[in-house]
Amino acid sequence: MALKIRVDSTKVKYTEEYIEAEYDYQITKVTKTEECFNVTPESKTLLIRTELNIPKVGLMLVGWGGNNGSTITAALLANKKKLSWETKDGVQTANWYGSLVQASTMKLGTMNGEDVYVPISSTLPMINPDEIIFDGWDISNLNLADAMKRAKVIDINLQKQLTDEMAQMQPRKSIYYPDFIAANQENRANNVLDGSKSEQLQKIRDDIVNFKLTKNLDKVIVLWTANTERFSDIIPGINDTAENLLKAIENDHLEISPSTMFAVASALEGCTYINGSPQNTFVPGAMDLAEKSKTFIAGDDFKSGQTKLKSVLVDFLISAGIKPVSIVSYNHLGNNDGYNLSAPLQFKSKEISKSNVVDDMVKSNEILYKPGEKPDHCVVIKYVPYVGDSKRAMDEYTSELMLGGHNTIVVHNTCEDSLLASPIILDLVTLAELCSRITFKSADLPEEEFSGFHSVLSLLSYLCKAPLVPAGTPVINALFKQRSAIENILRACLALPPDNNLLLEQKLAMKF
Ligand SMILES: NC(=O)c1ccc[n+]([C@@H]2O[C@H](COP(=O)([O-])OP(=O)(O)OC[C@H]3O[C@@H](n4cnc5c(N)ncnc54)[C@H](O)[C@@H]3O)[C@@H](O)[C@H]2O)c1
Repeated sequence: MALKIRVDSTKVKYTEEYIEAEYDYQITKVTKTEECFNVTPESKTLLIRTELNIPKVGLMLVGWGGNNGSTITAALLANKKKLSWETKDGVQTANWYGSLVQASTMKLGTMNGEDVYVPISSTLPMINPDEIIFDGWDISNLNLADAMKRAKVIDINLQKQLTDEMAQMQPRKSIYYPDFIAANQENRANNVLDGSKSEQLQKIRDDIVNFKLTKNLDKVIVLWTANTERFSDIIPGINDTAENLLKAIENDHLEISPSTMFAVASALEGCTYINGSPQNTFVPGAMDLAEKSKTFIAGDDFKSGQTKLKSVLVDFLISAGIKPVSIVSYNHLGNNDGYNLSAPLQFKSKEISKSNVVDDMVKSNEILYKPGEKPDHCVVIKYVPYVGDSKRAMDEYTSELMLGGHNTIVVHNTCEDSLLASPIILDLVTLAELCSRITFKSADLPEEEFSGFHSVLSLLSYLCKAPLVPAGTPVINALFKQRSAIENILRACLALPPDNNLLLEQKLAMKF
């Protein structure tokens, strides 16, 4: 394939199959004594291989007929066909605004003293959205054209152009356990699998195999964008290990959620599985199974609007030495997600997912916060049908300033929810697929095998409200730390150092 960026360095080797980069990874190790912090810089040289061959990828959405499912499908088609449509503001053409990979850039280096920025999508070989083949399941039997109409997200003149093709798309029957989503969703559930849990699991696995075979795909990625479920209880002997989880499915145990059933089916079929909703789909048994099956998982809960802003604003305040003491977030929305979240147990899942988002930033500053101290943090979500998918988020951040002063920032954010979430779905799929083609080994251990990322893809934290991380590793919520982790991995794959923003060549008197 034609590469868009070529690195001129003895540390980078290009072959027909891969790019191999020799990369010096710098770590700063710290120990603490009574008197001081002892700091030891360390360096480890890695070989990082990125496979060049982009596979043919299929995306299976659970909740395909929902607002996000129908919107991402319409967006993929509109972009693939390069559609334009008339709106009251003029002609609109399809684009991927809101996608980190497709619509944002990163600094590559400098040319004649000027910064050079390139599209993130051009840094390494990544899947082309136009080539993703999609499919999915929904407990509602509406075809995708009717689902798009029900969602009321896509402009009517674009809907008209997509209706014929989307009417041919029919969600597969799905797993429905009424206990896990709000009772108000029951009327939608007319496309559901019967049989035992083992039979349902087998059916989902058959669907994945069938999709892969009939579309001649190399890889299938499964992504949950269905309703928010209640949290599952973690029960020793039932869902705490891979073995127990599989046994519990055989025994039709009631505490296994539909989203966990899809996680199990995906792991057993060797597929990456991403959870876009807040519930604890990845019970310890599901994480264990993914690790044992050497498949990737990522989640939880798309980081789209209010939380994304919070993970910037609070980071900015605390890193400026200002102390947020009260963060209050109200939301109202009128789509089916809001309707489902109006039930207490489903709201609880969302509340938990939204509540820990500032913890890492608070913990980073012991000048402002004593150990264990946190700002008051309250999240309210209300269902208001009239506003539909156009979600309102109102946030009040109160902070303490010097000498007893206070600062209150109030933000009112109106945003079409599914138009924010759909590009995030594309990014999750693109980056998860890329991660599966990147492997590492120590440069000084020639006999060592290359191995990949941990099965929990924490690199995707930028896109998730409650990032899933490997056990025992810290969660990072601060948005720009998350973004620079992605940028710097892309750079590392090309043996380029992290962008340090020093710009000494511009700041010093000496000549470079
Ligand atoms: N839109 C956003 O900005 C955003 C942000 C973060 C998280 N989310 C989460 O994404 C999810 C989807 O949001 P949405 O607005 O598309 O909701 P939606 O209610 O419009 O769509 C969900 C779809 O899932 C289907 N469904 C429910 N249970 C199912 C099952 N067991 N199997 C298959 N299908 C099932 C429903 O019939 C529905 O079509 C929600 O959990 C929401 O909280 C959305």
